[in-house]
Amino acid sequence: MQKVYVINGPNLNLLGIREPEIYGKTSLKDIITLLKKHASERGIKIRHFQSNSEGNLIDKIQSLVHKKIKGLIINPGAYTHYSYALRDAIKASGVKTVEVHLSDIEKREDFRKVSVIKDVCIAQIKGLGPEGYIKALDELLKTSA
Ligand code: DQA
Repeated sequence: MQKVYVINGPNLNLLGIREPEIYGKTSLKDIITLLKKHASERGIKIRHFQSNSEGNLIDKIQSLVHKKIKGLIINPGAYTHYSYALRDAIKASGVKTVEVHLSDIEKREDFRKVSVIKDVCIAQIKGLGPEGYIKALDELLKTSA
């Protein structure tokens, strides 16, 4: 079975409790369960990792370098807006990556409008809530190899 890695950054472990008016009431565990179901129906295995720490996220991305995987779905949380280190790790990994955000970062505070990882990803999905993770997987599955 082909594998897709899903990486969630800081504070996403609090989904369901954290600002539900912005991020919704679905927990991260439930989002991953939904995604796993959608993936398994398409012959894909999901591996999930969440961390609140930039270094741990980078170590995880680096660990993908020699793995034969279909791709990576990443929601880097606030690191999206300023972590050049995360951006460099994604680029260095050579792994096809889709950026996902539950909220529409274009329609929020100015600092959220900038994504420093956008142009090292094949797509950016935002504002669709948990459905965005499903859409991100579909984007990866549209690509060859
Ligand atoms: C987020 C948007 C970020 O600006 C924020 O810092 C997050 C979540 C989203 O999924 O909408 O932690 O990535």
